[in-house]
Amino acid sequence: MPITRSKLSQAYPLGSRLDEDGRLQLGGCDALELAREFGTPAYIVDEDDLRARAQTFVEAFKARTKDFDVLFASKAFPCTAVYRVLAQEGIACDVASGGELALALRGGFDPARIYMHGNAKSVEELRFAREAGVGHIVIDNADEIERLEQVVGGDEPQPVLLRVTPDVSGATHAAISTGQADSKFGFSMIDAPDAIARVSNSEQLQLVGLHVHIGSQILELEPFRRAIEAIAPLGDFPVYNLGGGLGVAYTADQEPPRISDYVAAKVDTVADVLGPGKRILDEPGRALVANSTVTLYTVQSVKRNVSTWVAVDGGMSDNLRPMLYGAVYEAQIADRFPLSGTGGGTPSKLTGKHCESGDVIARDVQLSDPRVGDVVVTPATGAYGHALANNYNGVPRPPVIFVSQGDARVVVRRETYDDLAARDVNDGDD
Ligand code: LLP
Repeated sequence: MPITRSKLSQAYPLGSRLDEDGRLQLGGCDALELAREFGTPAYIVDEDDLRARAQTFVEAFKARTKDFDVLFASKAFPCTAVYRVLAQEGIACDVASGGELALALRGGFDPARIYMHGNAKSVEELRFAREAGVGHIVIDNADEIERLEQVVGGDEPQPVLLRVTPDVSGATHAAISTGQADSKFGFSMIDAPDAIARVSNSEQLQLVGLHVHIGSQILELEPFRRAIEAIAPLGDFPVYNLGGGLGVAYTADQEPPRISDYVAAKVDTVADVLGPGKRILDEPGRALVANSTVTLYTVQSVKRNVSTWVAVDGGMSDNLRPMLYGAVYEAQIADRFPLSGTGGGTPSKLTGKHCESGDVIARDVQLSDPRVGDVVVTPATGAYGHALANNYNGVPRPPVIFVSQGDARVVVRRETYDDLAARDVNDGDD
């Protein structure tokens, strides 16, 4: 059998490839050059991958229904340049806080096509949404009904959707499952009829439909169908927002449903169960952005005891997902991908630089002969990577670099040590 470079897994951005020397190319840029030019750790986003996935969602809906909108669930990657690309691709936006709303506006989204979420929206956030002209607010609970009515006062009524919890969940980590009856989100199936009646009779609120989101990183389609069936008895509405939740491939062996199959399952179930002519909204976050991005790190030490510990210059400050959800990532040396047919490489634990043992990015990876100075890449870090980044141990957050057709540009610069103290006031140094 000829020895060839192993192929990139589907976890990598669409435009990625290995050159003849086994070096990773991202959006036409050499990964090692990117690491040299911009430093590590760094999030590298393939802009064309982002655009392609947005188009795939829109085309999949267009092929099946006339009345729809695809909303970017922007909690997955709240970064102005990402908002801008997705706004340019003609999709709408879901925001979960005043901060995401501010970024979405900055990124160019038409406020009329913004949907505001949140299970604990403050008066200030609701006022901000009204002043900005947010098209729809998704009401989560009874307290919010009154709060929003007061904010609206005698002005034009606010179009709203009501979030219901269908008591349906998919197979996913408990922390990212939301559809079960005992959830902090939405109105229960028991409370929903009263809430629907209450909002329907409101002078300040205009109820246009229901919202349902059962959870995230769901790899089968059946739970999405069951959620739609579950809310059918609540009445007949012109608009249904079906949330997000489509899972993605983090590793070579994961096979998520295709976007077109996910869209078909949802659209067909709405037609079958809720009837024809419904306006369907969908809110993908992860499936739009996860695979657009990789993180580049540099190896700082290689230690061998019971395991081989390959320590890099980032970790739980740039990717919290392994620690929060036990998420599994691939990792490779960016210029030495394993040769297929040779058994891979050294079984390694890819660990971060943070002061706790839980700071392990990938527990079970094969790295080819890892050495200090190597650039290591972990794919599929676009969703909830930058979003969950933090400054643990005073580690500055990484830059976000867009690559496209051989060009690279910084869209978020690396944090500095001065940034770490930028909010200090009265720090006692007089
Ligand atoms: N719509 C609503 C109302 C949501 O709460 C979410 C995600 C989405 C849409 C988008 O879901 P997606 O398509 O991304 O699955 N930090 C966690 C994920 C939290 C998801 C929160 N809500 C993680 O890193 O896995």
